[in-house]
Amino acid sequence: MLLPIITYPDPSLKKIAIPITEFDDSIRDLAESMLETMYVSNGVGLAAPQVGRSTRLIVIDPDHYNSEKNPRVFINPEIELIGENIVSENEGCLSVPLNYRADIPRNNKIKVKYQNILGEIKEEIFEGFPAIIIQHEVDHLDGKLFIDKISRLKRSLYESKVKKWIKNGGLE
Ligand code: NI
Repeated sequence: MLLPIITYPDPSLKKIAIPITEFDDSIRDLAESMLETMYVSNGVGLAAPQVGRSTRLIVIDPDHYNSEKNPRVFINPEIELIGENIVSENEGCLSVPLNYRADIPRNNKIKVKYQNILGEIKEEIFEGFPAIIIQHEVDHLDGKLFIDKISRLKRSLYESKVKKWIKNGGLE
């Protein structure tokens, strides 16, 4: 099922999402719908708060644009930064309107502790693009957007563009 994606400046994107404790059909349905929504929206990741569910679930596919897809689901993910600081170039987000993009500081290698769809505890190391996507999506679970990490000047320029866009009916 396709889910509507919530966009900035909706205040619900600032909420801290709650851990998942029951691994039932509703969680499987949510993960499936989120993957479907992510693929249709041309994204490489989506977090539950972006579809109005304040729970700690993210989906990603770093291979979205490759011939072999690689859909992944992470529940209650916890990140440990184990690499070096890098710049993630041209980062964007399905919840950030006007296709806005910016260079964002990230880490190039992370260890992720998470639960799979069955509730089993897993640990995995990610490098490069997948690591960047996971950091971006876990930020959503903590109520953070990538535009919270840009300079004040860039942020205020962006905010005035969004205000104008909303005033004009929110049509791109
Ligand atoms: Ni995002």
